[in-house]
Amino acid sequence: MLTHAKIVLFGVMLLLFSTAFLQDTPQSSGPEYTSDRQLKLPEHYREWVYLSTGFDMSYSPVLQSAGHHMFDNVFVNPEAYRHFVETGTWPDKTMLVLEARMAKGKGSINQKGNYQGEDRMGLEVHLKDESRFPGKWAFFGFDEDKTAKMIPSSADCYTCHQASGAVDTTFVQFYPTLLPIAKNKATLTAQYKKESGAATRK
Ligand code: HEC
Repeated sequence: MLTHAKIVLFGVMLLLFSTAFLQDTPQSSGPEYTSDRQLKLPEHYREWVYLSTGFDMSYSPVLQSAGHHMFDNVFVNPEAYRHFVETGTWPDKTMLVLEARMAKGKGSINQKGNYQGEDRMGLEVHLKDESRFPGKWAFFGFDEDKTAKMIPSSADCYTCHQASGAVDTTFVQFYPTLLPIAKNKATLTAQYKKESGAATRK
């Protein structure tokens, strides 16, 4: 017979077990910095949530390589993604990664259209760390190195994202599963609603 005491004891053991287990799981996907304030490359971003792929979008300096096509893939850390799904906003410690890849044409059985090459042509991070950056968000560009300095806040990255990003300086208007959420939760910027006419439609 299960007495009341046994059930309580079982509950307590379960709680202890799960706390111990959770502490053992590899820590979250939050930002890590070096002692000289550089950001460490979030190596496992390919296990994060995929948001979208742009093809030959022509706003970014990385993509201005003439003579060939480019893809860019956008990923976000899972904690931030879940928060966005619930609220339509980005929490502190949100990390968005944009990686650029060269488009390939003919290869294997492919005759037409493009696919993505193995070489990563660039990797940029857009990071929200409210207590760390005066503007809450900061950009980082990685080359071959595993660490990167913050891109100075005078760079045009900040101007364009601030002026045209549909939610909190991010380009949610180009992330097809996030845009409906932002519409639903009414978190789109006034500027974006004005230019897209979304305000009048709703
Ligand atoms: C003229 C406008 C413009 C400028 C300047 C610009 N971006 Fe962006 N950025 C975009 C657009 C548009 C997207 C959406 C990409 C997509 O849909 O694939 C984007 C997406 C991103 C993302 C994915 C996360 C997000 O915020 O939506 C990162 C990271 C990023 N840009 C980094 C940079 C960096 C670093 C610079 C400066 C070196 C920069 N961008 C300059 C327009 C711009």
